[in-house]
Amino acid sequence: MNDPGHIPSMTETEIAAELRRLLPNAHAPYSGVQVAAAVEGDDGRVHFGVNVENAAYPQGHCAETSAIGGAVTAGIKAVRRVYVASSLPGLVWPCGGCRQRIFEFAQAGCEVVTLGADGEIGRQTIEQLLPLGFRLEPGAGHRV
Ligand code: THU
Repeated sequence: MNDPGHIPSMTETEIAAELRRLLPNAHAPYSGVQVAAAVEGDDGRVHFGVNVENAAYPQGHCAETSAIGGAVTAGIKAVRRVYVASSLPGLVWPCGGCRQRIFEFAQAGCEVVTLGADGEIGRQTIEQLLPLGFRLEPGAGHRV
């Protein structure tokens, strides 16, 4: 889903390397699972985040949530690609809650790319990961 009007600011190889570099920054003292995520906006800029756990467990949040927060803070309105890497062996796919968070900002066909430590790569669209996702039209007045 590359939009030729917007040149990505980083290549996939560069993003993969940056995710690996960021993994130790994850705050994951409870699970021991470090996750890093990147969100590529429709302007080509890439925003990174890591998981941030909390002693009150439900207050922790995923790397994708951190990355989406950074992207939205920077003014991103639409996301064309999300990348995930973790300290676990194999490929990690976003949890259900993060699939919904991604869906909120996803362009049609937004790709989720998961990067394994051994170079293995998985790719799915957000529609494949979250079929029939929930969406509201902002400002449409949903009160009954
Ligand atoms: N986690 C993420 O950050 N992203 C995912 O896609 C899956 C899980 C985090 C949450 C928690 O801090 C740790 O991984 C173990 O579940």
